[in-house]
Amino acid sequence: MERIKEDSFILVYRDRRRRWIVRPADTPRLHTHLGILDCKELVGKEFGTSAKTTLGDELLILRPTIEDMVMKFSRRTQVVYPKDLAMILLKCGIHSGSRVFEAGTGSGSATASMAYMAMPNGHVYSYDKNESFQAVAKKNLDRLGLSQFVTFKLKDAKEGIDERDLTAALLDLGDPWELVPNVRDCLEPSGMLAAVTPTTNQAERLVEEMKSRSFVMVETIEILMRNIEARAGMTRPANIMVGHTVYVTFGRKAV
Ligand SMILES: C[S@@+](CC[C@H](N)C(=O)[O-])C[C@H]1O[C@@H](n2cnc3c(N)ncnc32)[C@H](O)[C@@H]1O
Repeated sequence: MERIKEDSFILVYRDRRRRWIVRPADTPRLHTHLGILDCKELVGKEFGTSAKTTLGDELLILRPTIEDMVMKFSRRTQVVYPKDLAMILLKCGIHSGSRVFEAGTGSGSATASMAYMAMPNGHVYSYDKNESFQAVAKKNLDRLGLSQFVTFKLKDAKEGIDERDLTAALLDLGDPWELVPNVRDCLEPSGMLAAVTPTTNQAERLVEEMKSRSFVMVETIEILMRNIEARAGMTRPANIMVGHTVYVTFGRKAV
């Protein structure tokens, strides 16, 4: 059983809206509107325990997942949401040893998720042409200890991709069709290209370009996720749901 250490990330949880991720080493006392939580006191205890604040409020102390961490990232850009990320990771088959290309880095949500799956033997090569966005992403990944599995490049991916024989590529930028020829060159045969686009006309243009460059099994999907409020005898869908994030297009490189 893993116990909480000084440098462990802990998820301090009250409810969906009131949650914090901290490390006892950096945040010995967590100040919240529910009172102060003594995080140092938690060192040596097991995850899943609860603790009281100075105002007597009880908070749960849980081990954060990569989803919890990514949703707490500092953001300077739009990010890929967990429902879409999960499918990208699965469809691209990203596992320890995978070598993945990404453009653009943005806030690093997808970068972190891919690095988490690709470590310890794989690597992510993440390009962005905006220095300030990439700096935020680097900080986000540094904090999680994931930067060692990522090479960040401050580069316009349209100028070329330096890596070869990559397992998969993820494009999250406005004109992904422009990058299809470069991505084709960097992928290993059968390698997967995934791209997210907010609008159908972007997806359409991308699909046409992929098909004309011998990508096969090309498909575009939209993932609709609806939360269910499950309560004995009165289970029903939540009133509010995220209407739209992106369309996700996949295709594999044929030789
Ligand atoms: C929507 S954000 C990516 C968000 C990221 N996927 C995430 O989950 O945090 C798009 C990024 O693409 C970058 N970008 C746009 N065109 C690019 C290009 N040709 N080469 C490299 N980066 C580019 C932008 O600077 C921006 O940071």
